Amino acid sequence: MQAKDSKENENLIWTEKYRPREFNDIIGHAEIVKRARAFVQSRNMPNLLFSGPPGSGKTTLALIIAKTLFREAWHENFLELNASDERGIDVIRQKVKSFARTKAFSGPFKIIFLDESDALTKEAQQALRRTMEMFTNTCRFILSCNTSSKIIDPIQSRCSIFRFKLLEKKDVAKIVEKIAKEEKLKITQRALESLYDISKGDLRRVINILQASASVTKEIDENTIYEIIAEAKPSDVKHILELALEGSFLDAREKLLEVMLKQGLGGIDIIKAIQREIWDLNIREEEKIRLVEKCGETEFRLVEGSDDFIQLEALLASFILAKRQATV
Ligand SMILES: Nc1ncnc2c1ncn2[C@@H]1O[C@H](COP(=O)(O)OP(=O)(O)OP(=O)(O)O)[C@@H](O)[C@H]1O
Ligand SMILES: [Mg+2]
Repeated sequence: MQAKDSKENENLIWTEKYRPREFNDIIGHAEIVKRARAFVQSRNMPNLLFSGPPGSGKTTLALIIAKTLFREAWHENFLELNASDERGIDVIRQKVKSFARTKAFSGPFKIIFLDESDALTKEAQQALRRTMEMFTNTCRFILSCNTSSKIIDPIQSRCSIFRFKLLEKKDVAKIVEKIAKEEKLKITQRALESLYDISKGDLRRVINILQASASVTKEIDENTIYEIIAEAKPSDVKHILELALEGSFLDAREKLLEVMLKQGLGGIDIIKAIQREIWDLNIREEEKIRLVEKCGETEFRLVEGSDDFIQLEALLASFILAKRQATV
């Protein structure tokens, strides 16, 4: 069931559907790909530090490294964590410890991917450095960050640094053209230019805006793009919750997807917005408190790396249940 759901979501969300699956699919970043490939071929690699702007392909490259190294067993050998988890470095250390306890199978070591490493305080980074050292025999770390200057020197010096640059216009165009071909879209040159201007090379944003535009029309010009951008409003979140409370799960789900794509919001952003809106909803106080608690649980799962959309769907379902229980 789970597998089927995530397959469906893959087709639903284009950033997943078109996420490069192997080194050859990665557009641009020629030097970076060459270095990563060499590590994988020698089946040996140091700890890595990926630094660069959002949506430039850091997570994608980490996944490709793991999938090429471990093949079918990549799931068992790859742990993805997010450092902006407010629960802090202790939780990270605990998770690393239990993951590193068993030996890697079908690979020389296990890989721990730590997203948003620059969200860690200096003290937390010191603790991280000690953890990295503790597990050098069994694990390799791939740390991802937007700004490498926020990473303490002792970590930088223990990592091979990969600097991701913003993708150039011609590379962005390549990806847009590929998707347009697959999805049978017509995109004007001006639309392509505005996509690039708005996103500044952030491919996640490019692809999300493209998907939202395509849900309106298959012939996309610059007006389509600007209308899509302008339409995104925070009050949309309230609308999603109202739909869920009315029991229209499918409508709520569809609206949720639309908002995530249009506003380029991640699961955590949506949860925060939902939490704010709960207090204004027309339900009993006890229900509000329960729902806020539910949001907390969902947030925890998201931070642990669960699929954003599946978790938010489950949260919507609990809004429907809350309303039903309130009316019986
Ligand atoms: N170089 C690339 N070639 C092709 N597609 C790409 C590339 N980089 C990113 N993408 C597309 O953009 C999406 C976002 O990329 P990814 O998640 O790897 O970004 P990121 O660098 O990890 O961003 P963040 O810093 O926000 O975590 C991917 O799902 C993929 O579809
Ligand atoms: Mg990422």
